Amino acid sequence: EWTMAAFRDEEIARIRAKVGQGKVICGLSGGVDSSVAAVLLHEAIGDQLTCIFVDTGLMRSGEADQVVTLFRDHYNIPLIHRDASDLFLGKLAGVTDPEQKRKIIGGLFIDVFDEEAHKIGGAEFLAQGTLYPDVIESVSVSGAGMTIKSHHNVGGLPARMKLKLVEPLRELFKDEVRRLGRELGLPESFIGRHPFPGPGLAIRIPGDITPEKLAILRKADTIYLEEIRNAGLYDAIWQAFAVLLPVRTVGVMGDERTYDYACALRAVTSVDGMTADYYPFDHEFLGRVATRIINEVRGINRVTYDITSKPPGTIEWE
Ligand code: XMP
Repeated sequence: EWTMAAFRDEEIARIRAKVGQGKVICGLSGGVDSSVAAVLLHEAIGDQLTCIFVDTGLMRSGEADQVVTLFRDHYNIPLIHRDASDLFLGKLAGVTDPEQKRKIIGGLFIDVFDEEAHKIGGAEFLAQGTLYPDVIESVSVSGAGMTIKSHHNVGGLPARMKLKLVEPLRELFKDEVRRLGRELGLPESFIGRHPFPGPGLAIRIPGDITPEKLAILRKADTIYLEEIRNAGLYDAIWQAFAVLLPVRTVGVMGDERTYDYACALRAVTSVDGMTADYYPFDHEFLGRVATRIINEVRGINRVTYDITSKPPGTIEWE
């Protein structure tokens, strides 16, 4: 009988056999996959593992701190936290094309990761939280010669870094990774997390990205997710987030005219992210969120709800 406990033990043995006394580096993103991979590796090889967390400055409110706290303080996993936000935001200044944003972010990420990996020195292996659907999708999508969004970056890092790959989740689906995470004792707040794209908030700000817009979006997004959690809806939703629109609209606050950004709220249900339906919130909930955002976030004076399913829409706006 196949159980997650047995898989965990087998995988730990496999990692030990492959790695021996070698040093392994693992990139943390704050997501479920890389977190589970890191904790599994740590169980297998202890301090032969060093994790690298590149802070792009494009994460949500408090996220970078949560990653550092969990891995460095709670698990005692050696962790390099590189704050590269100035670098990322500098290179992204004035860039509006979604694929251009991805290219810049992907390229910088590799540069910074590479730099940090060299500082550690002597690493022989690179661990990645690649899942089975990533393996399949990157083959079928590139095979068909069709790319809608270039976010299938399996294999991007190691080619340049000449490291051997360790991919302990390569045979698992998302729900199995979550079960493995529970088996490893990762907190439920990490395991149940909605997926979050690598380019982060950069693809939730159509148009150019500025520190001011990022700050506005973070506040709106935090309020939205707080209300979703309070309503007990977080686990029923695949992904929920706010998008800061590159358009200002006229409003009235007290007896003053305002001219501020509009934002869109998005929430979808999905099984695998390939197709999705918009989440049917009741109007009372949406009204409450809109009122809070407009009252509490300076810079937003209008809120809309996105009722597009995938297809024909995509989950993210870019
Ligand atoms: P779309 O927007 O294509 O998204 O319907 C499907 C899933 O993929 C995520 N996504 C990305 N993830 N890099 C990532 O790591 C990206 O560039 C990227 N673009 C979209 C999206 O959040 C959703 O879960």
